[in-house]
Amino acid sequence: MSTAARLTRVLVSGASRGIGRAIALRLSRDAHVIAIVRKPEDARSLSDASGGHIGSLALDLSDRAARARVVEHAERSFGPIDGLVHAAGLGEHRRLADVDHTQLDRHLELNVIAGFDLAQSLAGSLRQRRAPGSLLFLSSTLADRPAPTTSVYAITKGAVSSMTRALAIELAPERIRVNAIAPGVIDTAMVRAPRLAEGEPMPEGEALRAREDAQIAELAKLHPIGRVGTVDEIADAAAFLLHAELATGTILTIDGGLSLA
Ligand SMILES: NC(=O)c1ccc[n+]([C@@H]2O[C@H](COP(=O)([O-])OP(=O)(O)OC[C@H]3O[C@@H](n4cnc5c(N)ncnc54)[C@H](OP(=O)(O)O)[C@@H]3O)[C@@H](O)[C@H]2O)c1
Repeated sequence: MSTAARLTRVLVSGASRGIGRAIALRLSRDAHVIAIVRKPEDARSLSDASGGHIGSLALDLSDRAARARVVEHAERSFGPIDGLVHAAGLGEHRRLADVDHTQLDRHLELNVIAGFDLAQSLAGSLRQRRAPGSLLFLSSTLADRPAPTTSVYAITKGAVSSMTRALAIELAPERIRVNAIAPGVIDTAMVRAPRLAEGEPMPEGEALRAREDAQIAELAKLHPIGRVGTVDEIADAAAFLLHAELATGTILTIDGGLSLA
């Protein structure tokens, strides 16, 4: 019987809120977590919520030069890293006619290239140390089952799934596993952002909250289980995949049956 080796120190991007925050808090129960956040108040909030078990680095991942040094910087400040979760992401809905290169570039840069760069840096460090490691990306069911207005997002998530498989096969001999989760709809700010009709003004205050709840209720109807997912359900799946020694190149769909409907 094999006992899965626990990760010691995990770098988590997108940890300020939503899925990334839930994963960071879940992993901090039995590993050191280094969160990549943009705002100092998010670093403080993570530290408080984890009882001081989450350290943070301030970084805007759209800064290519800074992110090229982040693994080195994190290891110098906190010690050797053996896990990575790239949960930072953008997901704006637009019809094809309204897509421009700015939107395309921002999504590709954060969802795909930043994740690739973090993986490349960490794999380089693990190789030097001859240490095993575990990498996790966030794909989406929209990679394989897109919807209208999701072309840019679906392109990036398709790339994330391909990157997961390509890195998994290349890094397997070095005992570095690479997996992804493909969530369906998870209740976060990304999904709550109102999808406005053309010319529709953005609601404010109570009206905004009511609009968000109505949107979540509509999305829930698409799921055979009758509800959307929670960030904690994705965090549990993340903890499983990061530690599952037989899993590499796995894209774990976890979507309340959305893909079957
Ligand atoms: N929610 C879903 O239904 C769903 C479904 C499938 C896949 N996913 C994927 O899961 C991941 C997390 O999604 P979520 O729903 O938790 O999203 P979210 O609540 O919108 O959070 C996005 C995270 O990305 C960070 N981020 C954005 N731009 C950044 C930048 N330039 N540099 C550093 N960090 C940046 C945000 O930090 P700030 O707080 O500083 O903005 C935040 O922590 C994404 O990759 C998303 O595509 C989500």
